Amino acid sequence: MPRALYPGSFDPLTNGHLSLVQRGLEVFEGLIVAVARNPNKTPPLFSIEERKQLIREACPDPRVEVDDFEGLLVQYARRKGVNVILRGLRAISDFEYEFQMANMNRKLAPRIETVFMMTGEDYFYVSARLVREIASLGGSVKGLVPANVLAKLQSKFGKSAGA
Ligand code: PNS
Repeated sequence: MPRALYPGSFDPLTNGHLSLVQRGLEVFEGLIVAVARNPNKTPPLFSIEERKQLIREACPDPRVEVDDFEGLLVQYARRKGVNVILRGLRAISDFEYEFQMANMNRKLAPRIETVFMMTGEDYFYVSARLVREIASLGGSVKGLVPANVLAKLQSKFGKSAGA
């Protein structure tokens, strides 16, 4: 299978994302993990450069390219010459949003296909939003994020994030 594009906010990268990257690499020749510059989202926890650096460190496989993009995902995919968008599906709650996005992207670019992989069973309840919330409120996110992300969260919110 050719390379696939794995887009997202990755604020921050979680073990759920990481599991998808690892499993994606079993299926695809390579992955472009692309951090969206999304001005509509609430203020980010980490900058785009920080997020990319965390992804690079946690995904040292040479088949993984880490990039960022602005504007429409399908236009970015075309620029990169990639026809497959990879997304993770956790639970039913993800479905409506993902279904809408996949169909809208198909409407915009019929030759680009969205492929879903189920998130690993160990991480189906993990989301970047909850990780941000828990870490900022002094809870532990140990085991939910890669070690480098945990260290970064600890330096931002104190040791409690990894206790
Ligand atoms: O991790 P997220 O926040 O669920 O990722 C959402 C993302 C970045 C994939 C989505 O918001 C996106 O593709 N944004 C780029 C703008 C775009 O193409 N919007 C139309 C989507 S139908």
